[in-house]
Amino acid sequence: NKEYRCLSAHSHCVDVTDDRTSKHVGYRCKCSSGFQGNPYLEGGCTDINECLQPDKYTCNGICQNSLGSFTCFSCPRGTGVTIGLSSGAGILFLAVITIIIIHRWKKGIQKQLKKRYFRKNKGILLEQLVSSDPSASDSTKIFSLEELEKATNYFDHSRVVGRGGHGTVYKGILMDQRVVAIKRAKLVASAEIDQFINEVAILSQINHRNVVKLHGCCLESEVPLLVYEFISSGTLYDLLNGAQDGRLLPMPWEERLRIATEIAGALTYLHSAASMSILHRDIKSMNVLLNDSHTAKVSDFGASRSIPIDQTHLVTAVQGTFGYLDPEYYHTGRLTEKSDVYSFGVILVELLMRKKPLIENENGEKQNLSNYFLWAMGERPLEEIVDKQVLQEQDMEAIKHVAFLARECLNLRGQKRPSMKDVEMRLQFLRARKVAPGKDEVVRSHRDVGGGDWHGGVVPAA
Ligand SMILES: *[C@@H]1O[C@H](CO)[C@@H](O)[C@H](O)[C@H]1NC(C)=O
Ligand SMILES: *[C@@H]1O[C@H](CO)[C@@H](O)[C@H](O)[C@H]1NC(C)=O
Repeated sequence: NKEYRCLSAHSHCVDVTDDRTSKHVGYRCKCSSGFQGNPYLEGGCTDINECLQPDKYTCNGICQNSLGSFTCFSCPRGTGVTIGLSSGAGILFLAVITIIIIHRWKKGIQKQLKKRYFRKNKGILLEQLVSSDPSASDSTKIFSLEELEKATNYFDHSRVVGRGGHGTVYKGILMDQRVVAIKRAKLVASAEIDQFINEVAILSQINHRNVVKLHGCCLESEVPLLVYEFISSGTLYDLLNGAQDGRLLPMPWEERLRIATEIAGALTYLHSAASMSILHRDIKSMNVLLNDSHTAKVSDFGASRSIPIDQTHLVTAVQGTFGYLDPEYYHTGRLTEKSDVYSFGVILVELLMRKKPLIENENGEKQNLSNYFLWAMGERPLEEIVDKQVLQEQDMEAIKHVAFLARECLNLRGQKRPSMKDVEMRLQFLRARKVAPGKDEVVRSHRDVGGGDWHGGVVPAA
């Protein structure tokens, strides 16, 4: 028998077999794994320092050689945490930088946009101002978007005081503690923007105690924002119909007459302002605001137009509110001051009857108040038509005059309607007669001043 030939420590023998016959043919010596050298010599197999051959023995951490093997502390604890931390911080840092850059970029874009909107909006605005009246008052202030955002707590929902057909109205408090109403368009359609700009152009020329005051506007947002004086006591519609809490407060005849006179005064002013006649085009009780002492303030000039005095304007798109719309204007598209007179007539009827502009008649059908009123005037005694509270005050004479006046305003033919100036004068006369002690005396003095006859259907020329 052969002696054991694998002399070296850390060596062993392996069987050798014939490749073809798979028969055992002998054995061979081999250094154990982790060792290298000559296994047939004593001490021939020596340790491999794996750490010196990183390409052969991979270790991503700290390598420590041992006899026949090596240990790799793949990620020593402290280092790991540090590396984790520093790479985390790196990512965070990058993120922050990115956010800052994006923010700057966005801000830049916003600034650009603001500038662009401003230029665009102001362009239209100036065009309109110049085209309508070169001497337009420049007291209208241009507000910055930031100012209005602060005033409304970034257009917070809790600040919404009204939603109209044209936009949302927010209550705002300016830096100087002035309370304002800020109107923002609902849609971003350019037609809406034009309406807003139109309103600025028109209102900036108006200064009347019965027209809501425009403080200014903001042109930096996509839709221009309009800043008005804040009118605190709701609309005439709310007062008449108890829309705020469903309760109908008593409305003395005196007050109804005063409000009617105030609205008529505002419209007279609008119709005869300077060389241009401003047509409101959307007169309705919802567009008449009331302040704390119930002084009427005509608002919402979005649909208004200024046209040269004594001219008829042909418009393509008929605008207005159902129930108030002048039928003649509706059918012909011909716009004159008399369309506002018609709408005012509807308000007079509302004040007389204390009914909504669209009512259910005796047969349960929906009908507009104006048509019902005209029909009832021919069929019924006035006492059955007008509001009960008005009747109790027993000024039947004045009530009759207002009812006749309303009927004249609602004449289907615009030409036959009185002018707003006539209407205002007749209302003012009625008010004066009410407070004056002697009826005849007042009539005489009125005649002296106006030179007209207030009784008949014919209206004195002013
Ligand atoms: C209501 O408006 C009128 C006209 O602008 C003003 O004289 C009056 O002081 C206002 N009332 C209140 C309570 O603010
Ligand atoms: C009143 O109603 C009739 C039919 O319902 C309509 O033809 C007319 O245009 C309306 N008038 C106004 C002023 O809305």
